[in-house]
Amino acid sequence: MKLKNSTVYDCSVIDVSKVHSDSGNITVVENSQNIPFDVNRVYYLYDVPSGESRGGHAHYELEQFIIAASGSFDVIIDDGTNTKRVSLNRPNLALHIVPGLWRELNNFSSGSICMVLASHKYDEKDYIRDYNEFINKK
Ligand code: TYD
Repeated sequence: MKLKNSTVYDCSVIDVSKVHSDSGNITVVENSQNIPFDVNRVYYLYDVPSGESRGGHAHYELEQFIIAASGSFDVIIDDGTNTKRVSLNRPNLALHIVPGLWRELNNFSSGSICMVLASHKYDEKDYIRDYNEFINKK
């Protein structure tokens, strides 16, 4: 399978905005409104032990919005030439990750929740889990 020729500069942090009131906030992500792909799967990471890292793979097709629904963590994206570290710490901010990039998540704060909105259902064939293979295909 061909790996997309994307770069870290194709990713951005999007302010999804929020509906504010004195009793709290609501942030809404809605297909065809404020997300550049249709969501087919939502998953979330939690209870990540301190000092642990997650990710460590690339996707051929999967596009994602990564949101710190609670707490904070860092996402490191890598296109084989450049890397970029993005710290997420607000539930109204979403990191848009395009396909074809290596990613790692670390520096999870205690109690943090990493919510991921994904463009496709889970498919192990969409993963590259070996960094050398990723570099060779880039
Ligand atoms: P993985 O995507 O490697 O997690 P992370 O990037 O957070 O380190 O997935 C970890 C395991 O969970 C893997 O064995 C497959 C399983 N999994 C599913 O079954 N469905 C899913 O939607 C996801 C994201 C993972």
